[in-house]
Amino acid sequence: MSKLEPVNITPGVYWVGVIDWNLRDFHGYETPKGGTYNAYLVVDEKIALIDTVKAPFADEMIRKIKQIVDPSKIDYVISNHVEMDHSGSLPAILEHAPNATLVTSSKGQSGLSSHYEESGCKNWNYQVVKTGDTVDLGKKTLMFIEATMLHWPDSMQTYLIEDGILFSNDSFGQHVATSKRFDDEVDDVMEDAAIYYANILMPFGGQVLKYIEKLRGLDIDIKMIAPSHGVIWRNGFEQIIQEYAKWASGKNRSKVLMIYDTMWGSTEKMAMEIAEAVRSKDVEVRLRHLRKNDWSMIIKELMDASVVAIGSPTMNNGMFFTIAGFITYIKGLRPKDKNFFLFGSYGWGGGAVKAMEKEMESARFVLAEESLQVKFRPYEDDLEKCREIGYRLAELAKKNANT
Ligand code: FEO
Repeated sequence: MSKLEPVNITPGVYWVGVIDWNLRDFHGYETPKGGTYNAYLVVDEKIALIDTVKAPFADEMIRKIKQIVDPSKIDYVISNHVEMDHSGSLPAILEHAPNATLVTSSKGQSGLSSHYEESGCKNWNYQVVKTGDTVDLGKKTLMFIEATMLHWPDSMQTYLIEDGILFSNDSFGQHVATSKRFDDEVDDVMEDAAIYYANILMPFGGQVLKYIEKLRGLDIDIKMIAPSHGVIWRNGFEQIIQEYAKWASGKNRSKVLMIYDTMWGSTEKMAMEIAEAVRSKDVEVRLRHLRKNDWSMIIKELMDASVVAIGSPTMNNGMFFTIAGFITYIKGLRPKDKNFFLFGSYGWGGGAVKAMEKEMESARFVLAEESLQVKFRPYEDDLEKCREIGYRLAELAKKNANT
C-alpha cells in the first residue's frame, strides 16, 4: 500500500488518515509501536470529512482526499475533538474548502475558536450540534453523540446511521502504526487498546460507564467502530465496548505490582525480597524498574492490580526523580480501589519514604501497610521484615481482588 492511498472501508466511506511510524512519545506517553491519526471521508450527494490529522501531515491527508474528490467540494468538516492531533489540519482543509460547514460541539466551537486565530477560526462557518442532531448527506445521515470527558469536555462522536459506523474519535483507539486498517488483520489489538485506555481514559471511568449506558440507550445498530487512532473495529466492536465497561469499573485481579527505582541496589533488594514472598503465596507479582520499562505499559499493568508497592531510594533528602514523576502521573490517572505500600532506603539522611507518603496521602490513596525504610543496606532482619510484608501483601491482593 502506498502511503498516499486512501482505503475504502465500506461503499462511500474512506480512511484518509496518516500513519506516524516514528511516533515514540505522545505528549509524554511512550508509544513504542508508533501511531496513526485517522480521518474519514464520507462521499454521498454531499461530502463530509470526519476529523483531520496532526498538522505536519496535512498535505498527506489532502493528497489522499484528492484521489477521491476535489477537496473544494467538501460540504461538511466534522470536528469531534479539539486536541491538535485531530484538529491540526483544519486550517489547511478549510483553505481548500472555504465554504464547508464546520460541525462541532458547543465546547468544540469554543476550543477551536481559541486555537487557530491566525487561521481566522472565529469566522469559520460553525454548526454547533448536540446528541441526536443529524446532518443529511443524501442517502447517508450523520448523527452526533456528545461524549463529554472522553476525554475532553468538547469530545463528541459521529454515527453514520445507514452503515452503522461509529466514528468514536479518541475512545476505543490504540497507539499503533500499521499498514492494516482493521482489528481482524492485526495481533495484540486488545492489549494495545488496554494500554491506550489505561493512559488516556483511566481517570474518566465514571464518564465511560455513563457514556456506554447512553450509547445502549440510543438503540443504534453499530456494525463498526472507527476510532481516530489505530485500527477499525469491524470484528470486535462489541467486545471493545464490553472491555471498556470492565476497565472503567475498576476490576482488580489478585496481583501485586511492584514499581521501584534504585541507586546502589538496596531498594531493589527489598523489592526482590517482597516480590519473592508474594510469589511464594501463589499470587501474581510483577516487578518494574522505572528506568528499564515503558511507563505506558506499567500503567496498563497497574490498571487491574489490587496491590501496588512503590519503592524509592533517597536522593537529595527526597524521592528519586523517576518515582516523583511516576506518583505525579498516577495521581492524575486516579486508579480505582488500589492498596498501596511504600518502601525505600537511605544513606546519611532519610526522606524518600516520608516524601512519598505525603504525596500519596494528598491524593487520598490507601496505604495498606506501614511503610518500610532501611538505612544503607537491607540486612537479614530487614529482609525478614520484607518477607513478612510480602506475605501480607499477597493475602491483601487475594482479599481485594474483585474479578
Ligand atoms: Fe487523540 Fe485527545 O487526542
